[in-house]
Amino acid sequence: MKILLFAVVLTVSFSPALKAADAQKGQGLYKNCILCHGENGEGKQSQKAPQIAGQFDWYIIKSLNDFKSGARKNAVMMPYIKGLSQTDFEDLAAYISQLKVK
Ligand code: HEC
Repeated sequence: MKILLFAVVLTVSFSPALKAADAQKGQGLYKNCILCHGENGEGKQSQKAPQIAGQFDWYIIKSLNDFKSGARKNAVMMPYIKGLSQTDFEDLAAYISQLKVK
């Protein structure tokens, strides 16, 4: 029984549905964020947009979900994220978390 359970867990964890976030797709999506957060995620004072480069991926995903749900208010960013999916958020986070401010 234990072995069977182990096999099930293994199969689930390696199924393609749970694939890792795609930083390359995230890079494409990030083009819409550069206006405020800058090419390297350094942020922009004039837009009151914070630096996000190198932030933990889970924190970026949480923030984006909070903005989208309205739990955290950010009217200026709303148009840019309201059409994005959870997968888009994960891909964006994978890209942004590896950015470095130059
Ligand atoms: C029109 C300007 C603008 C655009 C475009 C924009 N943002 Fe933002 N973003 C902001 C501002 C302003 C804040 C700060 C909001 C606040 O005060 O809570 C912010 C906050 C954030 C935060 C939270 C940072 C933190 O430390 O809590 C994340 C993550 C983020 N933006 C990601 C993105 C992503 C990803 C995109 C592109 C899909 C994007 N933003 C596009 C202006 C923008």
